[in-house]
Amino acid sequence: MNLQDKFERPLRDLRISVTDRCNFRCPYCMPAEIFNERYQFLPKPHLLSFEEITRLTRIIVRLGAVKVRLTGGEPLLRRDIEKLVAMLSALEGVDDLAMTSNAFLLPEKIDALKAAGLRRLTISLDTLDDEVFRQMNGGRSGVDKVLEGIYAAEAAGFSPLKINAVVQRGVNDHTLVELARFFKERGHILRFIEYMDVGNMNDWKMEQVLPSAEIVAIINDEMPLEPVSGNYFGEVARRYRYADGGGEIGLISSVTQPFCGSCTRMRLSPEGQIFTCLFATEGVNLRDPLRDGASDEALEAIIRGAWGARIDRYSEIRSSLTPDVRARRKKVEMYHIGG
Ligand code: GTP
Ligand code: 5AD
Ligand code: SF4
Ligand code: SF4
Repeated sequence: MNLQDKFERPLRDLRISVTDRCNFRCPYCMPAEIFNERYQFLPKPHLLSFEEITRLTRIIVRLGAVKVRLTGGEPLLRRDIEKLVAMLSALEGVDDLAMTSNAFLLPEKIDALKAAGLRRLTISLDTLDDEVFRQMNGGRSGVDKVLEGIYAAEAAGFSPLKINAVVQRGVNDHTLVELARFFKERGHILRFIEYMDVGNMNDWKMEQVLPSAEIVAIINDEMPLEPVSGNYFGEVARRYRYADGGGEIGLISSVTQPFCGSCTRMRLSPEGQIFTCLFATEGVNLRDPLRDGASDEALEAIIRGAWGARIDRYSEIRSSLTPDVRARRKKVEMYHIGG
């Protein structure tokens, strides 16, 4: 029988973070005051090699994962990332190989990624307003650079793309309709993400969250929407299509409508720990046994144990925690295990 956790959730997705570095400094993820020149990122020898990642992926796929997503940090900062894409796409049982990127380096990488077998791409872009965008990425990029990446991905045949936009009340909420209209016209799937309390550094407050229901109302006023049923069990985004037939959007409502009940995602960190939740406080170390010569069977047993013991449902209990308790919980950082 397939592997299941304590709530009978199967393991279906593996999200691999290939680096803890990023060329952006989004204040909600890697605030520039903390992630400055003095910040110590993981030293190279601590990172899993491509061979190590591929070996662990092969084992995790045998345990039931069928979807693999590369994230970071910013995955395109990992040198020769296309080589890893080629190694993973050659694995039997990987039905879907995707990447989430901020697109800054995409124009120079896209052809190699395509040739290596990357199937799908998700690009983060929170707004089309240049000033607001600079504020939301710590002044590291204008909108034009991300659009160049998007156009390059279109030209390479990645269509439709998924576009992720984090929504923060009072920051980019006045720019959502423009963003929706732009991607509707280009035929891509825009997903609005409720701002979450990931990590320990973004000083998250409930007042900064714009609930998905309000986002839907804002878009619906300009471009009527109708709900669509989900594509597959465990889908994170709730889908809506434009009533005029012009494509769809998604809402990722981890705060107001948590989806832990169908969460099938395991995360692998750059230095080889597995995490069973985006809000986990600790991971399970696979790198040490791996480098100490553990057999596939021994590694499999550790992974089985971690998934079998899994009781995570943070988003469902978040609202029952006081701000104090939430602040004391030392969570893993988003840039470390990927979105
Ligand atoms: P598809 O394979 O294209 O359906 O991808 P996806 O819907 O899983 O989307 P993606 O991987 O781009 O995830 C979108 C965003 O949703 C992430 O960047 C996170 O912000 C959020 N997210 C994804 N998985 C989880 C999760 O397990 N828990 C929570 N709370 N948020 C998540
Ligand atoms: N809340 C919601 N989404 C976030 N992301 C990063 N930090 C947060 C947060 N605090 C998003 C990124 C990217 C994806 C990987 O996760 O913008 O689209
Ligand atoms: Fe980088 Fe993405 Fe984090 Fe922004 S949200 S700092 S682009 S990893
Ligand atoms: Fe899964 Fe944890 Fe997110 Fe819930 S909070 S959906 S268990 S990753």
